[in-house]
Amino acid sequence: MSNTVKVAITGAAGQIGYSLVFRIASGELFGPDTKVVLSLLEIPQAVTALEGLAMELNDCAFPTLAGIEINSDAEKGFDGVNWAILVGAKPRGPGMERNDLISENGPIFTGQGKALQRGASDVRAVVVGNPCNTNALIAAKNAGDVPFNRFSAMTMLDENRARYQLAAKAGVAVTEVQNVTIWGNHSATQYPDFFNATIGGKKATDVISDHDWLKGDFITTVQKRGAAIIKARGKSSAASAANAALDHVKNFHFPTPDGKWFSAAVPSDGSYGVEEGLMFSFPIRTKDDGSYEIVQGLDHNEFAKEKLAKTEAELKGEREIVKDLL
Ligand code: NAD
Ligand code: LMR
Repeated sequence: MSNTVKVAITGAAGQIGYSLVFRIASGELFGPDTKVVLSLLEIPQAVTALEGLAMELNDCAFPTLAGIEINSDAEKGFDGVNWAILVGAKPRGPGMERNDLISENGPIFTGQGKALQRGASDVRAVVVGNPCNTNALIAAKNAGDVPFNRFSAMTMLDENRARYQLAAKAGVAVTEVQNVTIWGNHSATQYPDFFNATIGGKKATDVISDHDWLKGDFITTVQKRGAAIIKARGKSSAASAANAALDHVKNFHFPTPDGKWFSAAVPSDGSYGVEEGLMFSFPIRTKDDGSYEIVQGLDHNEFAKEKLAKTEAELKGEREIVKDLL
């Protein structure tokens, strides 16, 4: 197995990009024995900013950084990449929902899907740019013979947010909170599943007795956390989004420890009754051979089934809006 990984990052001159590239170059993502080549992509107007970013990366003298490429042409930028982290897209502003960005951001991902097919033979792509589930569907549908299951969208930020909320409520360290699945869309309809989560090895619902909070404020806080950050900061989340992107890639790159799983939006295979082909966030495990599986057998009561149906319906609606791009 090669000990060099080539990672493309689109929108690398943006705010998430600035929080992401140094951590990847430092060896934090793939470990100290794996070299990283960074392929940074931007629109032509931002290429000069990328040149400055490359100077800073070089000035860190990271032992694991084996090269930096800069491109505004996606086909060149995706040439030979193993991972493509698709961040480049417009962020929403105050008062907007993420899917208000569909018509502006969706078309970016047709070109990137096509470029991935032409440039990269063995690639995994994660879409961060919003609305990320539907953008990932657009990229995958335009990527020709690149297998559908090589595409995913990021819901790890939502999982991390949910874990923090549960830990704070229970008064325990976040490490005690495990297996909090985000189901569905990275949007205000997502369902952060506390029923199947554990705290200190026990059911979260046994540790947190305030079930009204779990069914109410907990869910809405996670669903609306992105908007709360935009309201407070004036800009959307960046360092926490970059951190989640690292978690996402690590989760797919390394086998998942026994008994655990993580959240990511992947093409539905019909699991849990979700329509096949939708880019839907599920509980995922990465196997020893590098492939992944959707964790089966989790129970959903009526409350959960209603939430799943709502987020599935929203994703179908988004798919309808972009049907000409698929
Ligand atoms: P930003 O505006 O700071 O940076 C985006 C960058 O993308 C810009 O530099 C822009 O020039 C570049 N870009 C635009 N079109 C491009 C293209 N076709 N090719 C390459 N680069 C292109 O925005 P940001 O804060 O870094 O956020 C980026 C995206 O990530 C937004 O859509 C935002 O909503 C989304 N986001 C998603 C999550 C998530 O959890 N999935 C979390 C945070 C942000
Ligand atoms: C987030 O969840 O922070 C991002 O998707 C940005 C946003 O628009 O909320």
